[in-house]
Amino acid sequence: MALALLRHMRCLCTLPRTVAALQSSIDKRSYAERGSLERVVSAFRAVVGDDGVSLGAAVREQHGKDESVHSCQPPDVVVWPRSVEEVSALAKICHHHRLPIIPFGTGTGLEGGVGAMKGGVCFSLRKMDSVLDLHQEDFDVTVEPGVTRKALNAYLRDTGLWFPVGWCSPTAAWLPPARRAPTGRRHQVNLEVVLADGTIIHTQRSRKTAAGYNLTNLFVGSEGTLGVLTKATLRLYGVPEALVSAVCSFPSVQAAVDSTVHILQAGIPIARIEFLDDVMIDACNRYSALSYPVSPTLFLEFHGTERGLEEQVSITEEITQGNCGSDFSWARDTETRARLWKARHDAWYAALALRPGCRAYATDVCVPISHLPQIIVETKKDLTENHLTGPIAGHVGDGNFHCLMVLDPHDPDEVKRVHHFTERLARRALALDGTCTGEHGVGLGKRALLREELGPLAMEVMQGLKAALDPKNLMNPGKVL
Ligand SMILES: Cc1cc2nc3c(=O)[nH]c(=O)nc-3n(C[C@H](O)[C@H](O)[C@H](O)COP(=O)(O)OP(=O)(O)OC[C@H]3O[C@@H](n4cnc5c(N)ncnc54)[C@H](O)[C@@H]3O)c2cc1C
Ligand SMILES: *[C@@H]1O[C@H](CO)[C@@H](O)[C@H](O)[C@H]1NC(C)=O
Repeated sequence: MALALLRHMRCLCTLPRTVAALQSSIDKRSYAERGSLERVVSAFRAVVGDDGVSLGAAVREQHGKDESVHSCQPPDVVVWPRSVEEVSALAKICHHHRLPIIPFGTGTGLEGGVGAMKGGVCFSLRKMDSVLDLHQEDFDVTVEPGVTRKALNAYLRDTGLWFPVGWCSPTAAWLPPARRAPTGRRHQVNLEVVLADGTIIHTQRSRKTAAGYNLTNLFVGSEGTLGVLTKATLRLYGVPEALVSAVCSFPSVQAAVDSTVHILQAGIPIARIEFLDDVMIDACNRYSALSYPVSPTLFLEFHGTERGLEEQVSITEEITQGNCGSDFSWARDTETRARLWKARHDAWYAALALRPGCRAYATDVCVPISHLPQIIVETKKDLTENHLTGPIAGHVGDGNFHCLMVLDPHDPDEVKRVHHFTERLARRALALDGTCTGEHGVGLGKRALLREELGPLAMEVMQGLKAALDPKNLMNPGKVL
């Protein structure tokens, strides 16, 4: 027993080195250059057909980058499987030839997750876009990775059910692979995953279970480094009888956050609560032709029955008034509510419009909510001192907030200042028991911060898991760890 444990521990200690060795052993040169790819392309064609494989330069470029500022790293080839069997067959070919596999949803990630750092094969999951099993009475549905939230909710229309995850990206694909937010995680139950060697597994059969480790949780947010997710069973919710949205402005960040804490403490089942700082609301006013006061603001949404809502709303109003909030501006009808939330969803574009021709980079630190006012105040000071444009929008209920950094990518000094700013911001969050990423994931840019956040021992455990599932380090190499 003790011996076995010792061996196991030794195993955990040596595995990370194995990963490092593997990583450096993968030749940095493109696989296409070495000719090995040509040998496999016909094997790919046999699986997915001629129109399921592309070596075209423009197509590869398009699949080598996401919405982030990371530079494009095109894969050597792009494939479009249509089923889990095809994903598995393609993975087996890659495994045999030691070709990296990079899963691709819609390329709207924000951390450079789809770049082919070591060349290899991009698996675009766009053609796998079916809604497979809807179990209305069990409140769940199984979907393929190409199904978007919008498409899913269109499919669910008339069933009285919906998938509620509020999504800010207009094009974002499937939630499971990329959505790292804890708020996204809890909506997934069972996953079908293809591992690096082509093995197909299911992570959890039953919604309530005590059977073994929670593999669903392991694969959600693994950013393509552990396997290709080919199906997910998602939890659904009843469409609420009534919805009300509201906007309220505050004299200070502290007052807005205090209101949020008091609303949560009062047990009000608030559906959405979003914070916008003065710079952000000003940008939204301009971009979406609105006229909210330019001060810290909360956007709120309540879901429930008509009677339940009345109560929720009146308690919330009392709380915000107690924190010197303005009168609520209410939106009950669908049109006004849609206009309000569209303004919030367009925040990214509103920020970009502040400086035409510039690019944006969104930070996403998250801290315990009690530390939120402090970190936002310090961060705003940092932005001003360093002459940076960074409107702030946050999911305050979770302690998560974004600085939408608008920068001129051709100004090296500004790029450097933004880089240093984001590192200071992440370290500020870590010092307050927070995380460097609440939603967007680690990708390329936050690997060093992940190490600082978790420490070497937890990192070794993660590397051990990676080595156990993907011993040849083929799944999206160069990311996360
Ligand atoms: C305007 C805008 C607003 C956003 N707002 C939010 C927000 O509010 N909350 C939030 O959490 N995020 C937000 N994001 C970021 C978010 O992470 C992405 O938009 C989205 O989740 C990425 O999905 P995708 O399919 O395009 O992923 P991609 O960019 O295609 O891929 C992202 C990562 O997931 C991996 N991956 C993709 N598909 C699979 C698969 N089937 N199996 C295994 N791995 C896979 C890729 O290899 C890559 O590492 C926003 C982005 C934008 C541009
Ligand atoms: C496993 O993790 C997923 C994702 O976080 C979650 O939805 C599921 O409920 C968990 N399963 C159990 C049995 O706790």
